[in-house]
Amino acid sequence: MTDLQNDRLLRALAREPVDRAPVWLMRQAGRYLPEYRRVREQAGSFMNLCRNADMACEVTLQPLERFPLDAAILFSDILTIPEAMDLGLYFEPGEGPKFQKTVRTEADVRDLPVPDADTDLDYVVNAVSTIRSALGGRVPLIGFAGSPWTLATYMVEGGSSRDFRQLKTMIYATPERAHELLDKLARAVTDYLNAQIRAGAQVVQIFDTWGGALSDAAYREFSLRYLERIVAGLIREHEGRHVPVILFTKNGGLWLNDIAASGCDAVGLDWTMNMGEGRRQVGGRVALQGNMDPAVLHAPAEVIRAEVQRIRRDYGDHPGHVFNLGHGVTPEVDPDSVAVFVDEVCRGGD
Ligand code: CP3
Repeated sequence: MTDLQNDRLLRALAREPVDRAPVWLMRQAGRYLPEYRRVREQAGSFMNLCRNADMACEVTLQPLERFPLDAAILFSDILTIPEAMDLGLYFEPGEGPKFQKTVRTEADVRDLPVPDADTDLDYVVNAVSTIRSALGGRVPLIGFAGSPWTLATYMVEGGSSRDFRQLKTMIYATPERAHELLDKLARAVTDYLNAQIRAGAQVVQIFDTWGGALSDAAYREFSLRYLERIVAGLIREHEGRHVPVILFTKNGGLWLNDIAASGCDAVGLDWTMNMGEGRRQVGGRVALQGNMDPAVLHAPAEVIRAEVQRIRRDYGDHPGHVFNLGHGVTPEVDPDSVAVFVDEVCRGGD
């Protein structure tokens, strides 16, 4: 297939040689961009923005107009799945996402519907195809979903949480109930990502934002097991091309080897692990993505540039590095600092 003008990301994910490491940023579309805030205001609410394919497409493309990025990421949210499970998602200003209903009892879990992506989440599938055609092959489009564990934290706690007390109680006190919930979520995520791939997503990433809050044994049993199951169920070949899968467990450095053995193509690393150490552990088995601390974007330009150079030196002269932050860009970041970060990656060299 030759419809992609810039296939640096796909090549790096396949551990093939590239002229320089590709770069994109988690949360590259969002509130740090004034042009995003304008469209968001027009939409009235975040979910209205996600539900309107033209607006979702517009904000997906905004960071590409500003910076020479090597990928677009679908504008949506990981919480679309619990929203489609009728839990009543809403956003309380300053407090983050919340759900009207929580999932705690045996009956809550049993009665939870598994959404059908093509019907219940058709607005996301439409956004993917709209964005894919608007991109016109400039760069690949990344689709995404949350991991079952991370989605479960929001659904069981009813929103963001510091200690995940309710869900952790469930995994230790009634593990079979937790497994039933995670199994439903794994089926929903697999179906959702496959619908995105059929609609035109050329790469998919699974965000396991809260996997790092688990003990070693619990991570393997309640998060990694379901990530493996999803990877095994995904469409891996579409439009004559391999569809790479990136797994990102924040604070997951401890399990890098096991995540790399899950069948994924790449592992996202936050900033707590050195890229060179990560590369030594995985060798050429998977690509690595990351890992600059997003807080570096609050520092002067020369500090940002030095940090990019350090990460490049740490990773070394191997194929398979995708530059990114170790977590999403925060709303307070100055877009000019993102420009410096991307520019320094694009300069390449040692
Ligand atoms: O990366 C991208 O540019 C694509 C868009 C994207 C969003 N959310 C847009 C968004 C992605 C990939 C996500 C994933 C997501 N959402 C995660 C996993 C990644 C991570 O950062 O850990 C999580 C945990 C969520 C849940 C969620 N949705 C939170 C915590 C928030 C912020 C709430 C707040 O008020 O601060 C959201 C809403 C959200 N998702 C916004 C954006 C741009 C901001 C909402 C707005 O514009 O009002």
